[in-house]
Amino acid sequence: MRAFRTPLTTVTGLLASIAAAEVMIVDNDTPTPLQVLMPLSAGIKVLGISTVLGDYDVDAATYEAASCLTPGNLSACIPVYKGAAQPLLLTNDTYQQWQQLYGSIVWQGCWAGDYASPVPTNATYNYDENTGAVQWIMDSVKTSKENVTIVAAGTMTNLALALAQWPEMAEKVKLVIMGGYVDGQIAQATGGDFTNDLYTDFNLMLDPEAAQVALSAPWRELVIVGNISSQIYPTQELFDEIVTVSGGLTAISQNSTFGYVKETVGNGTLPAFNLPFWDEVASFIATYPDLVTESYDAYVSVDTSYASPFYGNLRIVPADLRPKKGVRTSKAKLVTGIDVERFYGNVVNALVRDWSSYCSTGRSTSLMNN
Ligand SMILES: *[C@@H]1O[C@H](CO)[C@@H](O)[C@H](O)[C@H]1NC(C)=O
Ligand SMILES: *[C@@H]1O[C@H](CO)[C@@H](O)[C@H](O)[C@H]1NC(C)=O
Ligand SMILES: *[C@@H]1O[C@H](CO)[C@@H](O)[C@H](O)[C@H]1NC(C)=O
Ligand SMILES: *[C@@H]1O[C@H](CO)[C@@H](O)[C@H](O)[C@H]1NC(C)=O
Ligand SMILES: *[C@@H]1O[C@H](CO)[C@@H](O)[C@H](O)[C@H]1NC(C)=O
Ligand SMILES: *[C@@H]1O[C@H](CO)[C@@H](O)[C@H](O)[C@H]1NC(C)=O
Ligand SMILES: *[C@@H]1O[C@H](CO)[C@@H](O)[C@H](O)[C@H]1NC(C)=O
Repeated sequence: MRAFRTPLTTVTGLLASIAAAEVMIVDNDTPTPLQVLMPLSAGIKVLGISTVLGDYDVDAATYEAASCLTPGNLSACIPVYKGAAQPLLLTNDTYQQWQQLYGSIVWQGCWAGDYASPVPTNATYNYDENTGAVQWIMDSVKTSKENVTIVAAGTMTNLALALAQWPEMAEKVKLVIMGGYVDGQIAQATGGDFTNDLYTDFNLMLDPEAAQVALSAPWRELVIVGNISSQIYPTQELFDEIVTVSGGLTAISQNSTFGYVKETVGNGTLPAFNLPFWDEVASFIATYPDLVTESYDAYVSVDTSYASPFYGNLRIVPADLRPKKGVRTSKAKLVTGIDVERFYGNVVNALVRDWSSYCSTGRSTSLMNN
């Protein structure tokens, strides 16, 4: 339980010196608070959240984005923009047809037969209704005085649409994506449905053409988080640590300042159906590039042949054998290791904070007992 204690006590000073000197755009189908709080707690400005279809339909993704900001009173300075509602080429029919040819995808996101929107009836939520996400992404990159990192953790559709209009945008941006699984076939065939899902590149497979446009573009830097993010989970030790440094479950439930803590730990017991810190790991890697402990470089592209069992899957090739004139590839850093202790330390540090005056002061205060 005390495993996080050491990194936590030194967290602020240490992290300030190594956070990326960038501003960030969060582009996602399933925005969660930590994707925003982690960079903010490291002093990185988050320009906004752009939403896209994927696990959720785009309206639900937009609702989720707005909901991430409410407990921290962050809506006034972190705008939300609604993006692509459908893939470039695939339709629900051709998506289903492909599965008839090559086999079912375990998790089918917003096109699953039993998909239900998480948006409550008559819910009201704030987003910028005047500007679409694609235009906003281009405008933000164009006008930013600081280098922009985009953390893309949904389908790549917004990025592909922006690149169609402004191909040179890529050269100005560092792109970090969640997903990009290259070595999971044995696990998928032998591990059961959940493991199969962990190695299914759903974000790429729901819009393969957009994924290829985006992942083969000439980014300033391209980082692919890969299966490392499927290996890092919320743990009971983490929950215990969060509860302890927050002053206990009673304090958490009685004070709305602990809104993010409460949402995260609930009654303090890890849920039985516990999912990895998928997108949060991508945000961590974008925030602290120095805390990547292991990676390799390769040239990447996405299979866009519909008549292929690997339609929408990432392919990697070495530099010397990459196609010179055929399928466009891009150099990427594929991450295989991060400093996991520091990741957990950051989760605690970002959640156990009073964010309520961040928009007016640019600061947040730690709520940790020591
Ligand atoms: C997508 O197709 C499946 C299978 O036909 C269907 O059950 C589902 O309702 C469709 N979803 C949408 C959003 O059209
Ligand atoms: C949603 O709003 C409509 C129109 O205002 C109203 O008739 C309906 O009762 C509301 N539904 C719920 C569940 O609040
Ligand atoms: C942006 O990144 C480039 C390349 O990494 C670097 O040379 C430049 O100094 C950075 N600009 C700012 C404002 O940080
Ligand atoms: C996860 O990815 C790494 C690096 O690509 C690979 O070596 C490893 O086999 C993968 N794990 C599984 C279970 O596929
Ligand atoms: C909630 O916690 C904050 C931070 O510790 C504190 O400033 C505030 O007074 C608390 N509010 C209540 C109602 O206890
Ligand atoms: C606490 O929450 C967990 C996860 O949501 C749930 O499985 C468990 O039943 C809850 N326990 C109590 C005592 O409410
Ligand atoms: C919420 O943020 C606004 C600035 O956007 C600020 O005026 C207000 O005081 C904040 N609310 C609280 C409870 O701190």
